[in-house]
Amino acid sequence: MLGIVRDIAGLRARVQAWRQDGAVVGLVPTMGALHEGHLALMRQSLATTERTCVTLFVNPRQFGPAEDFALYPRDEARDLEMIETAGAHLAFAPTMAEMYPEGHQTEVALRPLGDILEGEFRPGFFTGVATVVAKLLLQAQPDVAFFGEKDFQQLRVIQRLVRELDIPVEIVGVPTARAPDGLALASRNAYLSEPERAIAPALHRVIVEVAANVAAGKDAKTEEARAVQALKTAGFARVDYVAVRDAETLEEPQKSHSLRRVLAAAWLGRTRLIDNVVV
Ligand code: PAF
Repeated sequence: MLGIVRDIAGLRARVQAWRQDGAVVGLVPTMGALHEGHLALMRQSLATTERTCVTLFVNPRQFGPAEDFALYPRDEARDLEMIETAGAHLAFAPTMAEMYPEGHQTEVALRPLGDILEGEFRPGFFTGVATVVAKLLLQAQPDVAFFGEKDFQQLRVIQRLVRELDIPVEIVGVPTARAPDGLALASRNAYLSEPERAIAPALHRVIVEVAANVAAGKDAKTEEARAVQALKTAGFARVDYVAVRDAETLEEPQKSHSLRRVLAAAWLGRTRLIDNVVV
């Protein structure tokens, strides 16, 4: 039977009891609206740790004023059923007051990492993410925490915050789960209309081409510009960025032999899709 706790004291009591039994504890932070990508995170936690806790919390601090906090898909009963079926041991679904009591002031900000790429188009997003993830890690105190590579910049933000705030946890990135046509799975894919869903896989296709061309020695800036055009031709209304970046810092690559990543964000109607691939 899946345990469900809604307060930090209850969460800590459960995790401490597991620890006393010598169990290695895995944490899978989510905002609910679970899909196959989240199940991949849970499977990895279940395969590599002895106890898995999944968190469900739609974090208002990572939504901009014009973003979809109110509309974000929420179905806790379905999420809990999926967590239980996956075999996880505990769900932590805190209340808003538990996470952000009246007057909560503390923020965790990373600069410049949190201000570039996604941060440029979604100001404050990574401060919201870093704040809630730091809180979740300190609340649960897991040995390992799992995050999807689909949100690659988020993964780098979390790795850096853990390193720089000396939080004793291992952060594991899990490869992006994709539909058979290549579209990265995401909770917001639910917003896509049928014609938009047909166009959506072009995002992955185009950045895979960029990665192949850059790996073959073509000029990255020319490839980025070509990709923006290709996405518009495919039917994307707006392209926020297609960027070839250093895979660690996510800044412009300084050396041609550094490991690189292609990252992109583009709009189909009112839905913003992001994706990334290794060069
Ligand atoms: O990736 C997400 O679902 C969220 O950004 C996270 C990491 C759970 C923080 O709210």
